[in-house]
Amino acid sequence: MDLFTPLELRKGLAARNRIWLAPLTNMQSHADGSLSEDELRFLAMRADGGFGLVETCAAHVSQDGKAWHGELGVHDDAMLPGLTRLAARLHEGGALASVQLFHGGLRANRAVSRMEKWSASAYSDEDTNCREATEADIHGAIEAFAAAAKRCAQAGFDAVELHGAHGYLLSQFLSTVYNRRQDRWGGSLENRSRLIRETVRAVRRAAPSLLIAVRLSPEDFGQAKGIDLDETLEVARMLADDGMELLHLSLWRAALNTKKRPESHATPLFRKALGGRIPIVVAGNIWTRDEAEAQLALGADAVALGRAAIANHDWPRRAQRGASLNRVPLAPETLRGEGLSEGFVSYMRQWKNFVAAPEA
Ligand SMILES: Cc1cc2nc3c(=O)[nH]c(=O)nc-3n(C[C@H](O)[C@H](O)[C@H](O)COP(=O)(O)O)c2cc1C
Repeated sequence: MDLFTPLELRKGLAARNRIWLAPLTNMQSHADGSLSEDELRFLAMRADGGFGLVETCAAHVSQDGKAWHGELGVHDDAMLPGLTRLAARLHEGGALASVQLFHGGLRANRAVSRMEKWSASAYSDEDTNCREATEADIHGAIEAFAAAAKRCAQAGFDAVELHGAHGYLLSQFLSTVYNRRQDRWGGSLENRSRLIRETVRAVRRAAPSLLIAVRLSPEDFGQAKGIDLDETLEVARMLADDGMELLHLSLWRAALNTKKRPESHATPLFRKALGGRIPIVVAGNIWTRDEAEAQLALGADAVALGRAAIANHDWPRRAQRGASLNRVPLAPETLRGEGLSEGFVSYMRQWKNFVAAPEA
């Protein structure tokens, strides 16, 4: 299998290759969540640069789920003109277009959302706190995901991805750390997975024309806490029954095996759990063509690039012709040349060793 072999995802829907853009928060949308010229340019350059599928950043499905300044919104019909422009422009570049549907839950940011925060259970630590969700909050979130998906279909996107990874709302409900409820939304895996399962089903009903992907953290990493590998395998199986058509594994270090089973890599485990019926895309510190191909050899159908794609808007074209790649740390002017606005460059300074320190 070659990185440049097209991948059919549905009848009549194929990615031109297996190198995709990972969802990347880039702080470039307008304050109301609408698309800006900066964000459009950044994403369009990746479509023109050869990525098979271009996915947006985590985009909030409701105002109370918004987590960052400059985060794209899919929460309101007022976003439709920008979303429509974006989908059309990505198609013009030859890429499939996908939106990552997101709710921050506990990790929403009151300073940007101006709304009260809630999650599966009340929570507080030195960084944040929030109240426990009511039934109305939970049903409201399911409806917000469905309505957002419908907007994405109207705007002309090919796919949506539910952000079920990294310790945000859907992952908080799956977690044994963040979810301590004792009603039908907490306790057993059946109950903790109810929100993400009902959300997939609601999205399916609301936007049958869209391919539905789900991004999962297989086990604990960073803010994803209380996530067990065997439970995630079971969740993936259940989601496939509910209508998930593509599984996105967020591995952070895709070269490594799982923590729970050091003899096994995640991809073959999920492949076995899904019985070959659902394509799998993996992300996590993939920089070179060799590293990307190693993931296909492990059974992934595609790779998603984050930092390597920020550094190289045309990674697929460069890899195909064997051209050299930009490697970090990169000077701000190189990043501007790769289509990053000033604000995005300064956000990237928070990522270790990405932006070169100014010369003394
Ligand atoms: C600047 C930046 C923003 C990110 N934003 C998101 C996001 O909005 N949604 C998401 O699921 N992951 C997000 N991630 C994680 C990436 O999608 C990816 O899984 C991770 O960076 C590992 O891949 P990489 O080593 O190729 O960057 C972000 C990563 C970076 C570096």
